[in-house]
Amino acid sequence: MAQLSSIVILTGAGVSAESGVQTFRGPDGLWEGHRVEDVATPEAFARDPVLVQNFYNMRRQALSSVNPNAAHEALARLEREFQGDFLLVTQNVDDLHERGGSSNLIHMHGELKRVRCEACGAVMAWEIDLFQETPCPKCTATSALRPHIVWFGEMPFAMHSIEAALASCDLFVSLGTSGNVYPAAGFVNLARNYGRAHTIELNLEPSLGASQFHECRHGPATEIVPAFVEEILEAQ
Ligand code: OAD
Repeated sequence: MAQLSSIVILTGAGVSAESGVQTFRGPDGLWEGHRVEDVATPEAFARDPVLVQNFYNMRRQALSSVNPNAAHEALARLEREFQGDFLLVTQNVDDLHERGGSSNLIHMHGELKRVRCEACGAVMAWEIDLFQETPCPKCTATSALRPHIVWFGEMPFAMHSIEAALASCDLFVSLGTSGNVYPAAGFVNLARNYGRAHTIELNLEPSLGASQFHECRHGPATEIVPAFVEEILEAQ
């Protein structure tokens, strides 16, 4: 691979699949068991906050029984050892990238282990179950705390920083994402057309947008990501 000075990597649920975190789509996916409009929209939360809080409480609890895998660890190694700029953007709301050692990381769809107060705007680290009656630790309002998660119809976080990085990177990698959800599914185009990046898809199978990438490598993340990282680091 040519000399690189700036890499942006986008990850999705596929990077955590081999850790035992359910992906969203497909026969065993999270969206098979739940309707998006029941649990992942602001309207659902307004209509039935208890159902929505329980859904995220269960997902938050499930994090304690999973661990980062070789793909998370390889990405953390890339961040440590790559000599240029490096940004990891994840659509995942789990904390496996952090626990795998990554630190320059944007959670564009939010985080299970953070909550936000709709009364005072505070965003707080949160490890335990959240209930409607739980008072905000900052302003004491009740019925005001919500998961710090981007629901359908809401704007993903940090889009300006992400777009700036995409426009100036020379390698963009999309890893473990089906390409169903925008704006993330459009990042390959931003990197190719606004920037001049070489673009690579790493996924178990061709995603919806596979034809937009210069290069695709298909296989389980724990195999293809460490090999890919090794290749980048050897070339620098
Ligand atoms: P999906 O469940 O849509 O896609 C997961 C992708 O990972 C699929 O293309 C799988 O083929 C691939 N995959 C599965 N196992 C893999 C493995 N072991 N190694 C590599 N790839 C593997 O999940 P996302 O694309 O992340 O948004 O979904 C995007 C967004 O849709 C999520 O962030 C979430 C969801 O609705 C919100 O909730 C806002």
